[in-house]
Amino acid sequence: MPQPYYITTPIYYVNDRPHIGHGYTTLVADAAARFARLAHRDVWFLTGTDEHAEKVVESAATHGVTPIQWADRNAQAFQEAFKALGCSNDDFIRTTQERHKSKVERYVRRLLESGDVKLGDYEGWWDPSQEEYITEAVAKEHQFKSPVTGRDLVRRTEQNYFFDLPKYADRLRAHIQKHPGFILPEARRNEILGRLDSGLQRVPVSRAIKADDAASQWGIRMPGDPNHRIYVWIDALFNYMSAVDDRDEGGQKWKYWPATVHVMAKDIIWFHAVIWPAMLMALGEELPGCIYAHSFWIREGRKMSKSLGNFLDGPTIDAYCNAFSTDAWRWFMLTQGPLGATDADFVHTKFVEVYNADLANGIGNAASRVSNMIGKYFEGQCPDPGPHGELHAAATALNEQARAALDQFDIGGALQAGLQLTRKVDAYIHTTEPFKLAKDGANMPRVASILYDCAEALRIAAVLLSPAMPAKMADMLQRFGQAPPDAGGRAGLPLVELCAWGGLRAGTPIVKGESLFPRWDTANPPPQAV
Ligand code: MSP
Repeated sequence: MPQPYYITTPIYYVNDRPHIGHGYTTLVADAAARFARLAHRDVWFLTGTDEHAEKVVESAATHGVTPIQWADRNAQAFQEAFKALGCSNDDFIRTTQERHKSKVERYVRRLLESGDVKLGDYEGWWDPSQEEYITEAVAKEHQFKSPVTGRDLVRRTEQNYFFDLPKYADRLRAHIQKHPGFILPEARRNEILGRLDSGLQRVPVSRAIKADDAASQWGIRMPGDPNHRIYVWIDALFNYMSAVDDRDEGGQKWKYWPATVHVMAKDIIWFHAVIWPAMLMALGEELPGCIYAHSFWIREGRKMSKSLGNFLDGPTIDAYCNAFSTDAWRWFMLTQGPLGATDADFVHTKFVEVYNADLANGIGNAASRVSNMIGKYFEGQCPDPGPHGELHAAATALNEQARAALDQFDIGGALQAGLQLTRKVDAYIHTTEPFKLAKDGANMPRVASILYDCAEALRIAAVLLSPAMPAKMADMLQRFGQAPPDAGGRAGLPLVELCAWGGLRAGTPIVKGESLFPRWDTANPPPQAV
């Protein structure tokens, strides 16, 4: 049996509404989860919301509701947004849930008992917009402004509980060096190794509670000390463990632990690649397999920010999904997104270009040409393969390419392999010209073998593309008389067998149907949020 596959996204702050960035990370995890399910791995895909930030209390107050009402409202918005994008998460964790809170208390208690967490004094530069302390050096480098939002840093002194991070520096460095795939992409790994060399500080794991400050009371209490609550970042990181920690109840989900991959953007890699593994070491728990930190989406050449008001938000994403289809949005996100070490720019004209080239003129057109000719020359029944099998080698090579890409968590690369296969079909039709050959009845065996190869290559391509475009590829597979993977991406046969040449049987009914991806007229205005 292959190892279970446990994939997570960050849990998102509920003081904001979902935007392209949250959707992107969750889509990356969704496609990875679907590929893993297709490979018959036992998958657990977790996402959720981080609800104990001070900002939640402030946002709630400005909207005239209680913090939990505000959290409920926005957590629901995240759930709906991910559902609308077709995400197949198995669970959605909220840090205000009892199942999470009780476990966090327990984990922190264990750290207190082991002496890894202790009370101490702290003075430092606090970034209120990110709810984190910044080192003296970083504060200076950014002229005492937040490196993320540019807002003023404030000097803060407090008594806190601290986690002894420096104690784990050597073990961490050794682990990262020994496991080249532990932090990806490589550029991020090198950055973390560099930062580890410049020294580590203790990490605050609590905040003092002040009677006159409502925000300071929002959160999980520090075990054994009613004057402190657990720092939101520590509370949040534990979600990955609390969500599957049913060791007290029979351990059905604990088999997924530890995570195969934690996906996030580079903004929060330090917490995930340094603080989180060190805490797990202190607890004596296993470490995750991979911390994957992608880059950022920017928009029309500019960083998205609250002050510029240019976030690509939920209503705008809905407008794109309505105009082009949800799967077209997923395709653009997953093939053009910032999965590697560089940022990606969301430009409307590029979206249209990719849509028309890859989907309308690419996959959609290839499927319609092949099914149309099978309809015309073979009464809509898949013809006999014949001896040729000229696309067979291409399908095998591209399958290999997809698998190698997936080993590197290169989701876009795997999908490009599927797209390539549909391009090969187009090129093959172009060079063999079955529509000309069909004019002479004597050529029909040759036409049959050409069209069989095309249909079979398209069937395989549709399987490879289904993690990005589950609904459209299910439709396409159905037109080719095939059972599609289920809503979560599970299929009757494992991926290797599904993609083996020859799965399509002669005589299978093949129908053309409506255009899968109608061409987008570039004269149309960009879709607008309603
Ligand atoms: N609550 C913390 C995470 C705790 S995880 C234990 C947090 N939340 S967040 O709402 O700010 O989400 C940050 C994450 O959202 C990023 O790491 C990334 O996954 C996603 N993105 C936010 N903006 C993004 C872009 N502009 N581009 C791509 N992804 C982005 O941090």
